Amino acid sequence: MGTTDVDVHHTDGGRPLPTIVSAAGFVGEMPGQVKDMVGQVKDVVGGDDPRAVIWEVIRGQWRFSALYAFVELDLARWLSERPMGVSELAGLCALDEGALARLLRTNATLGVVRSVPDGKGGSRYALTEAGRTLDAGDERSMRSVVIPQGAPDFMDAMGALADAVRTGKSPFGAKFGSFYAYLDSHPEARQHFDAHMVTRSRAIAEAVVARYDFAGIGSFADIGGGAGTILATVLHANAELHGVLFELPSVVAGAQAFLAAELVIDRCEVVAGDFFKAVPTADAYLLSNIVHNWADDTAVTILRNVRSAMPDHGRVLLLDMLLPDDDRPHLGKELDMRMLALHQGGRERTEAEYFGLLREADLTVRRVVELPFALSLIEAVPA
Ligand SMILES: C[S@@+](CC[C@H](N)C(=O)[O-])C[C@H]1O[C@@H](n2cnc3c(N)ncnc32)[C@H](O)[C@@H]1O
Repeated sequence: MGTTDVDVHHTDGGRPLPTIVSAAGFVGEMPGQVKDMVGQVKDVVGGDDPRAVIWEVIRGQWRFSALYAFVELDLARWLSERPMGVSELAGLCALDEGALARLLRTNATLGVVRSVPDGKGGSRYALTEAGRTLDAGDERSMRSVVIPQGAPDFMDAMGALADAVRTGKSPFGAKFGSFYAYLDSHPEARQHFDAHMVTRSRAIAEAVVARYDFAGIGSFADIGGGAGTILATVLHANAELHGVLFELPSVVAGAQAFLAAELVIDRCEVVAGDFFKAVPTADAYLLSNIVHNWADDTAVTILRNVRSAMPDHGRVLLLDMLLPDDDRPHLGKELDMRMLALHQGGRERTEAEYFGLLREADLTVRRVVELPFALSLIEAVPA
């Protein structure tokens, strides 16, 4: 809308001011007040003003806050039953009606809800397809992705990013210790994290079995394999494979139950442990979204532990994002800000940086398999 004509008339002490004929240009002299207003119009609507870039980022924060409140109040759960008017929804959820009306109006601009006629001359709000994914009951649910982005402990750490840059230390780590220690003592955060990982892992798992050939592998260990989603998918797709799920003690019970429900537990071992100490022996190892959580020296410790447990014919599959070396926008560069704030030493890396870590653990890269979602699978073997 940056160059869209606007037709705004002003007066200043009875003296007519020039008509603004275009957000991009004026006819006649402009008083400062009008200049400011036009600046705002341009800023907010975009256009060729360089500040439009900054406004876009600021608006992202406002939009996210509206979305987060919608999710925190669990409005998608109520609206998944049927479209509702503001006053009915406010009554059911014990919310302030006026404030709720404003929140829904903004969420309608985000494409989360839309107004539908109520048949009595008024309107109700209905969930859109995107809005439906904010309901915990939806199988593509994004609820557990949104909550940890906006929850106060995480927001505080993101807000203290400048401190991370001053000190090189994660503000979240400085306050709570490691991210995983925090999850161990915050069950609700753990629940959201696990739910997010399950949804995310499902998509990753499908990509891995579609693009990677497991032929010739007898045993396959998923190190830090979370709930077991990737392992179950790989076992379903490869009937001869024996699986090992290696995880923290606090996670293994859930993984055991999940693998049993998936009917693959008789082809699996679930092992509790710490990958900084030792990992079980297997022909192939998956490290999916593991290495990016850790600083170089700790990441190399994990890789060395894998290297010393594997047979000479073994292989490692390292799955993470590979950042481009140039200024191209990339999801991983944005995620890296979260790594900086939340994971002490955690970072997204370039291909050369991952290859360097593998080399330090006496592993040689054999190939890189591109996956969707900006992910790659690096296959490495003993050097
Ligand atoms: C980002 S999640 C990735 C989960 C899974 N690999 C995936 O891609 O969906 C990292 C996992 O590492 C596990 N983890 C963290 N520290 C660990 C440790 N010291 N030993 C074993 N597992 C650990 C966490 O419990 C968590 O499930």
